Amino acid sequence: MGLTVAVTGPTGEIGTSAVRALEDDPRVERVLGMARRPFDARARGWRKTEYRQGDILDRAAVDALVAPADVVVHLAYVILGSHEESERTNLRGSRNVFEAAVAGPRTRRLVYTSSVAAYGYHADNPVPLTEDVPARGSSEHYYSAQKAACERLLREITEGAASGLDVYVLRPCIVAGPEATVLLRNLPWEQAAPHVPEPLRRALGLVPGLKPVLPDPGVRFQLVHPEDVASAIAAAVAGDGPPGAYNLAADDTITVAEFAHAVGAYAVPVPSGVVGLTAELVGLLPLMPAKAEWIHAVRYPMLMDTAKAHRDLGWTPRHTAHDALKAMAS
Ligand SMILES: NC(=O)c1ccc[n+]([C@@H]2O[C@H](COP(=O)([O-])OP(=O)(O)OC[C@H]3O[C@@H](n4cnc5c(N)ncnc54)[C@H](OP(=O)(O)O)[C@@H]3O)[C@@H](O)[C@H]2O)c1
Repeated sequence: MGLTVAVTGPTGEIGTSAVRALEDDPRVERVLGMARRPFDARARGWRKTEYRQGDILDRAAVDALVAPADVVVHLAYVILGSHEESERTNLRGSRNVFEAAVAGPRTRRLVYTSSVAAYGYHADNPVPLTEDVPARGSSEHYYSAQKAACERLLREITEGAASGLDVYVLRPCIVAGPEATVLLRNLPWEQAAPHVPEPLRRALGLVPGLKPVLPDPGVRFQLVHPEDVASAIAAAVAGDGPPGAYNLAADDTITVAEFAHAVGAYAVPVPSGVVGLTAELVGLLPLMPAKAEWIHAVRYPMLMDTAKAHRDLGWTPRHTAHDALKAMAS
């Protein structure tokens, strides 16, 4: 008998690729997906997948989803939201999923997609980041803080009481692909600019009404295509490598100038101190939307070492960061 896999958040940017990979994997017999909005799995051509509407804040709904599952894949999350909404889903909802997986009568594996953001944006982070660097998070960025808190929660729930679960924590960098556009929808400078005082805005070249301008502090960054995250999820679902944390990123890196060119913006070189100053201001100014806190993500280089996923999970990304960027921008 093949695996039955329960997936929270199967309709998202990573979820749709993950389900496609599970549909194609002969080791998987059945996929049970749950998210809040209506969704037609058949219209996607999915044949092994049964979709139901449900909220991970509803423990009974989570228990019902997980009960028949050999493996649980937890993807449901709020990436772009208010502090309150994101905290509710990301911490309370994730707790429900982790506890349900521990209690699940058949569940033997749990796969959770964390993020590079779990490491936090710290001046003393090593470059590159390996999986044994503590996931400290950054308190000034809700998403980073919640990703670190969620990993702590996962450890507390699954390491206590001899749960017997094999736990895989995948830490992708920013995901970019044809349907993965979170980066495009959330350019940190665009979010922060209206709240930055005029003189600093001018210094940064953030002039409204023109093409978007992306200040370029010279930091390189990583991207990964959703299909490559999906192949890592499928490998973890099948237990292809030992449980543990795995960084995921394409093998190459891109510059802010390359990113700007691809999305029709201008890159303007600025000293990295200016990014730090703006990020500090974002934390100090009142009424700043939570989204603006994403500016912290470009404060320091956040490059991950992916050797462990290659070696232990047998993972090989098929797309370069440049391909992923092109796919997202087209
Ligand atoms: N995208 C990236 O760049 C990226 C990078 C690194 C890590 N990650 C992580 O990977 C995971 C998946 O990300 P994604 O990009 O696929 O996110 P996404 O596109 O925003 O999708 C989120 C999914 O979760 C569902 N969801 C949200 N709140 C829910 C709730 N309360 N109950 C049930 N379902 C809920 C959504 O559907 P409904 O709204 O219909 O419920 C959707 O299916 C997240 O943990 C994210 O932090 C993403």
